[in-house]
Amino acid sequence: MHKNFQKFNSLYEKERKKIDRRLKRLLAKRQPLSLYKPGSYILDSPGKRLRPLLVLFSVKSVGGKLSQAYNAAAAVELLHNFTLVHDDIMDNADKRRGRATLHKKYDTNTAILTGDSLLSVAYENLLKDVSDNKRSNGNCKAVVTSFTKSLVEVCEGQSLDKEFETRKYVPIAEYKLMIKKKTAAMMEMCCNIGAYIGNGSKEEINSLTRFGRNLGIAFQMQDDLLDVIGDESKLGKSVGSDIVEGKKTYLFLKAFEKAKGDDKKKLNKLIINKGISRSQVSEYQQIYRKLGVIEDAQREVKSYTDKALNSLGVLKRKEDREFFTWLADLLISRNK
Ligand code: IPE
Ligand code: IPE
Ligand code: MG
Ligand code: MG
Ligand code: MG
Repeated sequence: MHKNFQKFNSLYEKERKKIDRRLKRLLAKRQPLSLYKPGSYILDSPGKRLRPLLVLFSVKSVGGKLSQAYNAAAAVELLHNFTLVHDDIMDNADKRRGRATLHKKYDTNTAILTGDSLLSVAYENLLKDVSDNKRSNGNCKAVVTSFTKSLVEVCEGQSLDKEFETRKYVPIAEYKLMIKKKTAAMMEMCCNIGAYIGNGSKEEINSLTRFGRNLGIAFQMQDDLLDVIGDESKLGKSVGSDIVEGKKTYLFLKAFEKAKGDDKKKLNKLIINKGISRSQVSEYQQIYRKLGVIEDAQREVKSYTDKALNSLGVLKRKEDREFFTWLADLLISRNK
């Protein structure tokens, strides 16, 4: 157990609660309710708030103040929630954060527009922290550019993710490019804008950016893993959804690489039919277990996490490096 575990944990909790409160206030007084009630539905649901935390602690680790970045922190969570709402439509997902997905609770048109409005409000919030150039240390343009670039990448990554569902063969290198775009780009951006807002040096900005990127790759691989070994009541999403949808996750691709005989035939069937039925999920989970791809995925998660942590050497304070190490450990062992 980490010696600063308690301290870091309460620091995380304290900031997470602040983010929750800010998000709750954000849409409360807006009209029309037909737009903002569904918006509040997703924002009020219990997310980990990892991305805002990355922004805030990146600011802090380069010597800035958390208070410089609360609007930017809210902005990245809004952006993230926008991607989730649209992702759940694209993935035919029924559950998110232990509740019905937004398009199931309301309808698809509402979910599309709610997503769009979350994205707009995200920019509105981001600009509050950077439009005053003095407060963002003259880094306004860099921050808005970075935020926008990550959004472009998420769209490209999500497009590849969908494209791969119907592709017969996807090399693992292409899978990695896909997750870099759909997930890591945004985490990279969170650390990058935090470092800019806190007026970090070039080296600090580059290191934190690399940290966010590799942490993001590890994060998505762990997410793929949880779809296979997770506990639905903790995860808050339906386990096995990636298998049902015929997603080319790391576990699937690795299993396909290793499988022979009947297993290979079954995996091939998933490719040809572009997915399977819910009732077959446990069969595929068993194949993954038998082939050892759970362990393969865990090794990859560990390796990208280590890579992420290795770039933090330039941070001046030991405590900041330790905080990120604690956070990375938390993510590796998470069950949701
Ligand atoms: C889910 O993100 C989408 C992925 C990139 C895997 P999180 O796991 O951070 O979701 P919440 O915000 O905590 O619900
Ligand atoms: C999420 O990938 C990526 C984005 C939301 C951009 P997933 O589709 O794996 O995320 P979950 O598992 O639904 O949260
Ligand atoms: Mg998806
Ligand atoms: Mg999804
Ligand atoms: Mg997933």
